Amino acid sequence: MTKKVKIGFVGVGNISSRYLNNITKTFREIEIIGVCDLVREKAEEAVEEYKISKLYNDMYELFSDPEVDIVLNITEAFNHYEVTKAALSAGKNVYSEKPLAHTFPLAKELYELAQSKGLYLGGAPDTFMGAGIQTARKLIDSGFIGEPFGASARMIQHGPEYWHPDSEPFYGFAGGPVLDMGPYYTTALINLLGRCKSVTTVATKPYKQRVKLAEPRYGSLIDVDVQTYCNSILEFDSGAVANTLMTFDVFHPNYATLEIYGTEGTLFVPDPNCFSGKLTLMRESKKTVDIDMLFPYTEESRGLGLADMAKAIKTGRAHRADSRQQLHVVEMLTFMASEEPGTYIMETPFERHLPMKQNAAPGILD
Ligand SMILES: NC(=O)c1ccc[n+]([C@@H]2O[C@H](COP(=O)([O-])OP(=O)(O)OC[C@H]3O[C@@H](n4cnc5c(N)ncnc54)[C@H](O)[C@@H]3O)[C@@H](O)[C@H]2O)c1
Repeated sequence: MTKKVKIGFVGVGNISSRYLNNITKTFREIEIIGVCDLVREKAEEAVEEYKISKLYNDMYELFSDPEVDIVLNITEAFNHYEVTKAALSAGKNVYSEKPLAHTFPLAKELYELAQSKGLYLGGAPDTFMGAGIQTARKLIDSGFIGEPFGASARMIQHGPEYWHPDSEPFYGFAGGPVLDMGPYYTTALINLLGRCKSVTTVATKPYKQRVKLAEPRYGSLIDVDVQTYCNSILEFDSGAVANTLMTFDVFHPNYATLEIYGTEGTLFVPDPNCFSGKLTLMRESKKTVDIDMLFPYTEESRGLGLADMAKAIKTGRAHRADSRQQLHVVEMLTFMASEEPGTYIMETPFERHLPMKQNAAPGILD
């Protein structure tokens, strides 16, 4: 077997087990070489549970290890910029959790730094590479709904303070529903409809404080520093128009919907925060058809974009969850979460990468 691409983790928090599991069990062409965390015990636990060979004292020790091919940045959103910048500066390829950075200028700086150093930079979300969005894309590209002219994306929930042990940052400068959850919906939209041309937004903040309902610090108050009820209209180069609502303020039974409207039908798309789900096509009034998934990765597959980037490093081909896509998304998000209502004209380019292939051996990228 050819040599595996070696991944070093910076941060081993809440979501890390998904990456640890999937890299260990699913993605055959990458391996975990080592981990570090500001809270050393978390790194020690991961090393023991997943039989990882190296535990670094800090991220700088990890960056100086010549065996590390890709730094996986799964720190909190407010740390993404600093950690990614330090890793790139040390000459490492980086795959970052979403968002690439919490402002458009900072994301642009990282993008340009990677370009200038000839390093690979990419990151989450990679759910758009899963069976749900890929099957939707196949149907749209094959003309099943005619010409797509509209879309609606809603992420409606009452905040992460119910479940996340460290929920405070979700209401700080790098948080809010748009920066935290918006990447899934915007990434899916641009992969289905193409480049976004303009963003028009009115966003508000109904609650000035939130009550923490998860341990530790149950019952403590969290100040809200970001807009949490964010309504946007996105216009695409194709002429399609999407309306989006991203909020942490609403009690609602259906937390996510993504619908694409075409001249010959409507597609009800699985939640882009997941890799699969119910996909329904409606082409005649009151008649819906459930569509089977046509691609692999129906299960939780976080790390798919990382495995794809590793394959790109080995073969020289492009990778799908790349920083050009992340930068386009951060530019959209920055204005979808803006305190100032208004219209923003997008400046970054974007072209969709190739769709996923029907690979006979899931876990090995094309
Ligand atoms: N929790 C989820 O359900 C979820 C889902 C998808 C994506 N994400 C994304 O994944 C990222 C991590 O989320 P999480 O919930 O695991 O956060 P978390 O707060 O649970 O964990 C982050 C970890 O990073 C560590 N860390 C921060 N700076 C560091 C540094 N310089 N060196 C070493 N370690 C450092 C922290 O000590 C902490 O353990 C976020 O960007 C989040 O948006 C989270």
